[in-house]
Amino acid sequence: METKLWLPTTENLKSAGKILRDGGTVAFPTETVYGLGANALMPDAAKKIYLAKGRPSDNPLIVHISDFSELEPLVAEIPPVAYRLAEAYWAGPLTMVFKKSSLIPLETTGGLDTVAVRFPAHPVARELIRLAGVPIAAPSANASGRPSPTATEHVIEDLNGRIDAIIDGGREGVMGLESTIVDVTTPTPTLLRPGFITPEMLLKVTGELETDRVVAAKSVQEAGGEGYVPRAPGMKYRHYAPRSPLTLVSGSGEKVISYINEKTVALQKEGKRVGVIAAAETAPRYLGDEVKAVGLRTREDTIAKGLFDTLRAFDSLKVDAIFSEVFFDNGLGLAIMNRLLKAAGYSLMIL
Ligand code: TXA
Ligand code: MG
Repeated sequence: METKLWLPTTENLKSAGKILRDGGTVAFPTETVYGLGANALMPDAAKKIYLAKGRPSDNPLIVHISDFSELEPLVAEIPPVAYRLAEAYWAGPLTMVFKKSSLIPLETTGGLDTVAVRFPAHPVARELIRLAGVPIAAPSANASGRPSPTATEHVIEDLNGRIDAIIDGGREGVMGLESTIVDVTTPTPTLLRPGFITPEMLLKVTGELETDRVVAAKSVQEAGGEGYVPRAPGMKYRHYAPRSPLTLVSGSGEKVISYINEKTVALQKEGKRVGVIAAAETAPRYLGDEVKAVGLRTREDTIAKGLFDTLRAFDSLKVDAIFSEVFFDNGLGLAIMNRLLKAAGYSLMIL
């Protein structure tokens, strides 16, 4: 099929809304990453998403709404804590898991009796959902397994010819990591995926918080081993991985730089090409063939914004191995390290 590439004019958003309502697929910007939308109430529309992405169909989709009032029909109940979280962080990069109502087909939830709902803040996403007039199921708009898209070019790279339209909203207002997911069906709210709404921010509202073991895991074992099924099923799949093996190196700054440079020189002697992912502050110190500054260590939001772009960039650069610095693992850093560790398949060298 021919994929239309549209700027977010009112006229184009109306046409895209109609495509969605009628069962088609449209990629659009949100404040986290680009999403691939389809009508959440139509079982066949969800199937089109799975097909376009090459995604396993037991991985449930997040349902997006454009107003709080659209939540009630989709869920069996709204626990008090969900009202408080919505009050504090909606519209915004927070997804909540509820018991689903019968309106939501099992195709959308990967067979689960719960549904994840998000109310995005990005003006283009909100307007598109409003004009579609139906709730919109939308995973990240990448081919399954690849880093989530933070720009229109990434969506074109992965999905051109496989979906009906792409709304080109540029990079403006795209923060770069997927939403925080919290399950509010449990007695204590449970963090299933870390994101911009940090544990500290959640605790301020909920007073208590459990955390699924995959969230802060530093190894496959800590993540529950190969057989463990995380409560957000998508967290189990190998994800974001660049095509060349990625190793994270942790330790005091100078040690990390010497270690990576020694490894680099040794590999280069064997005729290999080496990539390095580093903070902008230390990037000039590396000897790798391709050194990418992902963002400023002192500004974690810039690392969040650059991370997926950097991982993706390495797929078109010919390197045999990639080394990366690690970042703080609290606050927003928890989300950054969660994505980096998954990209590395938990390959972490501690000096
Ligand atoms: O920021 C985001 O959330 C982006 C934008 C497009 O909104 N969407 C996104 O969707 O990241 P996706 O499909 O790439 O990730 C959805 C995650 C998966 O890990 C999935 O398993 C989990 O949400 N999920 C969806 N429904 C769930 C449910 N009912 N219970 C537990 N986890 C669920
Ligand atoms: Mg995804």
